[in-house]
Amino acid sequence: MTLLTQSSTWQALSAHRKNLPHMRELFATDAARFKNMSLSACGLFLDYSKNRATAETLELLFTLANDRKLEAKIKAMFAGEMINTTEKRAVLHTALRSNASQSIIAEGQDIVPEVQQTLDKMQEFVETITSGQWKGYTGKAITDIVSIGIGGSFLGPKVVSQALRPYWNQGLNCHFVANVDGTSISEKLKLLDPETTLFIMSSKSFGTQETLTNTLTAKAWFLAKGGLQSDVAKHFVAVTSNVTKATEFGIDTDNIFPMWDWVGGRYSLWSAIGLPIALLIGMDNFRALLNGAHQMDEHFANAPLAENMPIIMGLLSLWYGNFFNAQSHVVLTYDHYLRGLPAYFQQLDMESNGKSVTLDGTDVDYSTGPVIWGGEGTNGQHAYHQLIHQGTALIPADFIMPLQSHNPIGVHHDQLASNCFGQTQALMQGRTFEEALAELVNSSLTDEEKQLIAKHKVMPGNKPSNTLLMNKLTPETLGALIALYEHRTFVQGAIWDINSFDQWGVELGKNLGNDVLARISAEQDSSALDASSNGLINLYRQGAI
Ligand code: F6P
Repeated sequence: MTLLTQSSTWQALSAHRKNLPHMRELFATDAARFKNMSLSACGLFLDYSKNRATAETLELLFTLANDRKLEAKIKAMFAGEMINTTEKRAVLHTALRSNASQSIIAEGQDIVPEVQQTLDKMQEFVETITSGQWKGYTGKAITDIVSIGIGGSFLGPKVVSQALRPYWNQGLNCHFVANVDGTSISEKLKLLDPETTLFIMSSKSFGTQETLTNTLTAKAWFLAKGGLQSDVAKHFVAVTSNVTKATEFGIDTDNIFPMWDWVGGRYSLWSAIGLPIALLIGMDNFRALLNGAHQMDEHFANAPLAENMPIIMGLLSLWYGNFFNAQSHVVLTYDHYLRGLPAYFQQLDMESNGKSVTLDGTDVDYSTGPVIWGGEGTNGQHAYHQLIHQGTALIPADFIMPLQSHNPIGVHHDQLASNCFGQTQALMQGRTFEEALAELVNSSLTDEEKQLIAKHKVMPGNKPSNTLLMNKLTPETLGALIALYEHRTFVQGAIWDINSFDQWGVELGKNLGNDVLARISAEQDSSALDASSNGLINLYRQGAI
């Protein structure tokens, strides 16, 4: 494969970038721009017309995708090929939401039956809990679920449960514990009754320090509160691919929900890692979530490039990262229920595409994954939108908003929508010096002051944004939305020829942390470490600076 940056398409994109008119002009000269640069799929509507792109831009980006054999790579993923080359694994989170009638071979085995069996096991478990049939050690029904997990074993359940709050079963509360900071679990345990609490320990590896420590603390609390070792099975279940370690830990075999190596942690909410979601919203709604994602899978696998939502979003993001030096991408969710989504997309994209060598181990000579950040609108307008509008960095933005609120009240949704659309308009058109000066014409400022203030009020505009709409935030549209971003991430990794599905970069910190822990725990001398680490450990030992 030709070196990406030396390809003729890459060179053409570089040249093309220099000749792009301001978006104001692109809109002024093309009345059909909105119509031609928007599309609907799987209950979502994407307006990508407020991008620094023309039909020629998109054609060049599609050519780049073809150069990089994107469609073949998409087929390889869905076909269960070992595209996670460094771990020799297939990447088949899409199989978790496939139709039961499908047959998907991974590592020589049809995996759909086990996926369906696990969904059935989840269904049965959810029904015994929500019906009150499952009893704790004193014969009471479960009222509180504690999901213990971190990374993809935390963010997926947490963010999706939060997003689908209108669909929660009554009478069941859910708490999420991730951080190993003792405050996290201590604050939760204060709220709980051991007789009516069920702990779900979620860890694909069953080897994550935070999750093991939090689960041991939960178990110690349970026993200290009066539960017996023989009662643990009534109050602890596990979701893991490491059944042996879970059994050794003391989780009853019947209470272990399997997951598999061909599901990456950041892609795992669709598996039994999503058990807290299913308990809260019910299995029918969980299956609707899966179905929404499945619809997006079908769209991604079959829609032509020019009508393919994940491909268009992925290519446009790459356009800014590689040709405008954009270092970050902001996700702004104009819906309170979606306030956690930026954090979810952070792990999804940054742990996938935060890489710097290609599949064959060559150092890249181009930017790869950007920093993903964001928050809920309209709050961000009163916090960081200033920088997006007038800062020196180009920060492409995604605005996400349902057209209908679950809580229609007064003028609220009108104002939310107006802010959302107003922001994308301001980013696109900016404010010229002449416009700024005209706004000051009746002010009491002197002419000299007006000239100066006007200069400070200039906004360059030409700041790109996508606007994603849905009729309403439902399990289906949320499933489609998350799958859209999963595939958007895939598109970029495929063009960059990196492995989006391993995460070797998280190991060293963990290993060095374990070494520090051993030195702290055993009062071992740490002077062999660098002076900073040694100094910090000594301060920790002193417990005072
Ligand atoms: O941060 C590394 C990582 O492996 C993530 O990819 C994963 O989601 C998280 O840790 C938790 O891993 P596990 O589910 O194996 O406990």
